[in-house]
Amino acid sequence: MADSRETMVKAFVTGWPVKHSRSPLIHGYWLKQFGIEGEYRAEALTADDFTSFIVALKSGRSPYVGGNVTIPHKETAFALADQRDSLAEELGAANTLWLENGRLCATNTDVYGFAANLDERHAGWDKAERAVILGAGGASRAVIRALRDRGVGEINVVNRTVARARELADRFGETVHAHPMEALPEVLEGAGLFVNTTSLGMDGEAAPEIDFTLLGPKALVTDIVYVPLKTPFLRQADAHGVATVDGLGMLLHQAVPGFEKWFGTRPKVDDDLRSLVIADMDRHA
Ligand code: ATR
Repeated sequence: MADSRETMVKAFVTGWPVKHSRSPLIHGYWLKQFGIEGEYRAEALTADDFTSFIVALKSGRSPYVGGNVTIPHKETAFALADQRDSLAEELGAANTLWLENGRLCATNTDVYGFAANLDERHAGWDKAERAVILGAGGASRAVIRALRDRGVGEINVVNRTVARARELADRFGETVHAHPMEALPEVLEGAGLFVNTTSLGMDGEAAPEIDFTLLGPKALVTDIVYVPLKTPFLRQADAHGVATVDGLGMLLHQAVPGFEKWFGTRPKVDDDLRSLVIADMDRHA
């Protein structure tokens, strides 16, 4: 008789370190919810180990059908994949891998996760005509792509190192404009959406004061940082009476396409899942 552990569908999350990842909690919740006899495991891998892990995966010598990739392996995952979709291509990084006819396919689900979170918690967010994005790293690229896909007409990227913002403006086309930090008050004036993609205010660190009253009347402020859940930027926006959405939903929603690829069922982000992850964050605070 076949050992059920050998036939069981297995997926992974890998990073270095990976012990803080909430992905096993998220996928474990869905596996249980659907009664799927699958497994989703964390694999802590150094850069060298990651490459041999992927080589084994591609050759079918691994127990896995695919998985998630997090810092610092997203760029290597992109480079080692046999096939990448346009999202991964544009971001130059992959966070979701799966095998298809023996080929390793790669995508990036951050763009989907960002938009799905706002769709769920603040429908109509994409009607903003002008947006301001703080930061010009990898996360900023995902947000720019999401905004551009939804037709936001003017996207202003503000960054400490303005050259990085310019690079993104050149890459993403004429609707994207680059600005130095000092220009923030000017670009905030009348804007409908503000997104923080920097680590500013993460893990309880101080963040600069931003005058969110400059934003337009129906503006939304969101942060891709979700530790703490209410970041300094979200607190400031709250204090100014501006609507906010926290970044936890992006983490939850970006997990949806991967689960569907590996386990064959499209899961839903619900309140119980959100509460489960918040309780875990509280335990480790
Ligand atoms: P990620 O891929 O997660 O977006 P990243 O590529 O390291 O990470 O980008 C981090 C972003 O946060 C950058 O926009 C960075 O600004 P610089 O391009 O000038 O480095 C921004 N950032 C980080 N710490 C900052 C700080 N103390 N003040 C202002 N911006 C900061």
